[in-house]
Amino acid sequence: MASSLWTKKPLDKLLKEASNEGNQLKRSLSSTSLVALGIGAIIGAGLFSLTGIAAAEHAGPAVTLSFILAAVGCAFAGLCYAEFASMIPVAGSAYTYSYATMGEFVAWIIGWDLVLEYALGAATVAVSWSRYLLELLSSLGIHLPAELVCSPYETVKLSNGTLIDGGMINLPAIFIVVALSLLLVRGTSSSAFLNNILVVVKVCVVLLFIALGWKFIDPANYTPYIPENTGVYGEFGWSGIATGAAVVFFAFIGFDAVSTAAQEAKNPQKGMPIGILGSLIVCTILYVLFSHVMTGLEHYTVFKGDAKPAATAFAKTGYTFLQKGLIIAILAGYTSVILVMLLGQSRVFYSMSKDGLLPKFFGAVHPKFQTPWKTNLFFMVFVSLFAGFVPVSDLGHMVSIGTLFAFCLVCAGVWLLRVKNPELKRSFKTPLVPLVPILGILICIYLMYSLPNEAWARLALWLGIGLAVYFLYGKKNSKLNNQ
Ligand code: ALA
Repeated sequence: MASSLWTKKPLDKLLKEASNEGNQLKRSLSSTSLVALGIGAIIGAGLFSLTGIAAAEHAGPAVTLSFILAAVGCAFAGLCYAEFASMIPVAGSAYTYSYATMGEFVAWIIGWDLVLEYALGAATVAVSWSRYLLELLSSLGIHLPAELVCSPYETVKLSNGTLIDGGMINLPAIFIVVALSLLLVRGTSSSAFLNNILVVVKVCVVLLFIALGWKFIDPANYTPYIPENTGVYGEFGWSGIATGAAVVFFAFIGFDAVSTAAQEAKNPQKGMPIGILGSLIVCTILYVLFSHVMTGLEHYTVFKGDAKPAATAFAKTGYTFLQKGLIIAILAGYTSVILVMLLGQSRVFYSMSKDGLLPKFFGAVHPKFQTPWKTNLFFMVFVSLFAGFVPVSDLGHMVSIGTLFAFCLVCAGVWLLRVKNPELKRSFKTPLVPLVPILGILICIYLMYSLPNEAWARLALWLGIGLAVYFLYGKKNSKLNNQ
């Protein structure tokens, strides 16, 4: 029994699946689309909401350094992802890489864990999306019934002072999840087209914020640049910068989603590293500049408890007539994050189903649209339930911890495969192995350690459920174990 848990999927088999012969998914994504896919998944709630919290509670204006620290951790993991994705360009991302290197059991844990990143990530951002929508509607004088725009146990405060204290269901969040899931069923290339437009809008708004805000920066807001530590770990000082990095890590989540679409890339060997590392570099530059301007426009203490710090800071510029445009662009930005998260999630379950670890239902490809449509519909319901009914303030931490855990395994996998199969052709090679994977693992563990205990408890609970499903279904039906 023990041996079957560690069965590895042979690489030649994986590559055959990725070849045109075994590939049922359509290869429609260019390198540019892949970078856009990455940016689409990356810039979202993390930048537009969490930057304020990280600055106000942990790092002050030095939140820029928190972004750099988080980016360094992501870069190490990103380099490892790039090697894997160029070598094993198969849908399924970290799940597939672990199957080839660390065996079925670890692969299952990772595949199951990725639900936290992608499905719950989509739910978390959908709720943020609905909050910005409410803000926009309320500024236009449109007020939706409170019970229908807020999940139970959740409080939403609009900037006009309206307080919604617990509703019944968050219908706008469900609406966006349903709409995007249906678009994904329709086809990857039409989704990629929409994504490209949304990414342009999103990047433009970030650039506009930086350009227009720059001349309104008040240097007094940068003193002190690194506020003195309060005596509590993580509250300012250098430990605050590190904790701030754990908070803004959420803003980087998504670059790995590029690798889930490997089977749909036109030239995966080249496109995967470009997509993963290119999107990471672009976003890091934008984040550092954005947070620099934001904390220069307003004193960091002003952002305490503010869910829309970008709008608050922008109000300082005098371009208030652009506020509505800013919110619309942010909505567009969030939309692309949700889109790519949903895409990534369906591709992971598609791969797990193809391997027999999940029922065939999840691997069914639509005869006309060539998309894993049943998985898309399943996650439409699953994500809607979370987005519509669960207070998601804590979900962000679950998303982060799940993602960091996956990053650790990917870093370990690259190192392991270099030792065991040094002869394999690698179109992109992670530099300085094992140093880069080890640093990647250490930074990710450190960031996990900075997250609250509840996040660890929920991760353990989710993985416990996953183990039960594996032993009751996956292990018995695994194609590899039943050959
Ligand atoms: N990185 C994504 C965001 O910030 C998840 O919304």
